Amino acid sequence: MSLRNKDLISIHDLSVGEVATILDVAKKLKHKQKNGEPHQYLKGKTLVMIFSKASTRTRVSFETGFFQLGGHPIYLNDSSSQVGRGEPVKDTARVLSRFADGIMIRTFSHEAVTELASYATIPVINGLTDLLHPCQALTDLFTIMEHKEVLKGRKLVYVGDGNNMTNSLMYACAKVGMNMVCACPKGYEPDSEVYRQACADALETGCRIEIEPDLFKAARGADVLYTDVWASMGQEGEQTIRKEALGDYQINAKLLQTARPDAIVLHCLPAHRGEEITEEVIEGPQSVVFDQAENRLHVQKAIMALLMSEEKL
Ligand code: CP
Ligand code: NVA
Repeated sequence: MSLRNKDLISIHDLSVGEVATILDVAKKLKHKQKNGEPHQYLKGKTLVMIFSKASTRTRVSFETGFFQLGGHPIYLNDSSSQVGRGEPVKDTARVLSRFADGIMIRTFSHEAVTELASYATIPVINGLTDLLHPCQALTDLFTIMEHKEVLKGRKLVYVGDGNNMTNSLMYACAKVGMNMVCACPKGYEPDSEVYRQACADALETGCRIEIEPDLFKAARGADVLYTDVWASMGQEGEQTIRKEALGDYQINAKLLQTARPDAIVLHCLPAHRGEEITEEVIEGPQSVVFDQAENRLHVQKAIMALLMSEEKL
């Protein structure tokens, strides 16, 4: 099975085997990195990274990861390139394809990324859209595997706003046979089409994806509690109304007690302490959010190497 020259836009597009391959290669690359073993699978290659939204983790992990693989990353944002001045996506795609070996893009519209990929002749990696955040969700599977070994049959409970993270986690859990409950209030459920597709995938792998607005009912017996901000990038104007609607949807000590005693807590970060998660929980012994953040590096290196390297990994 080969991911070579493919795009990584949605976990839904990946086969069960391809997800397993990414996790397996990530484990190997993490081991190599930790042991100082050479792994320059992308020597002489160039990655263009387009950011139309802010980022700390995604930018630094992609840039560092590509460099560690022997390649040269180039950072573009809206104000320093023609992207923000309205150059058509289809032109950007074809121009960058003449120079570089891959494109990573973080932007608002998911359709802009699919359009970019349809015109580009080099792999395109989705670094977050309003709809999905696949590199984060694949990293989350990897982190859960490190802490829980087996993914199949586990229960992940997502608490809060049904956003790009929730959507990608539904796709991710469905691919690996992990049960997921989205504890989201009415009106803040995840995307209905993504939910439908994830439920169909879940049937194949023998797990269930559910939406349950009753938070404490949802959290019962969870192996993983996961949350993300109440207002995502682009929703800053809705902060007040979102605080009102999502105010009860917090991972705190009381909710954690509803989960399994050995449950782990994940958050893609950045976190808003006192909103979707308490200081006590995020800094507590069950929180593995910094392992999770580190793993962005290893999993994205696996993705880039699998899409862009001619070598067998
Ligand atoms: N989790 C994540 O994608 O973080 P950044 O917004 O800092 O890239
Ligand atoms: N849902 C958040 C994730 C940030 C990594 C956002 O889109 O802003």
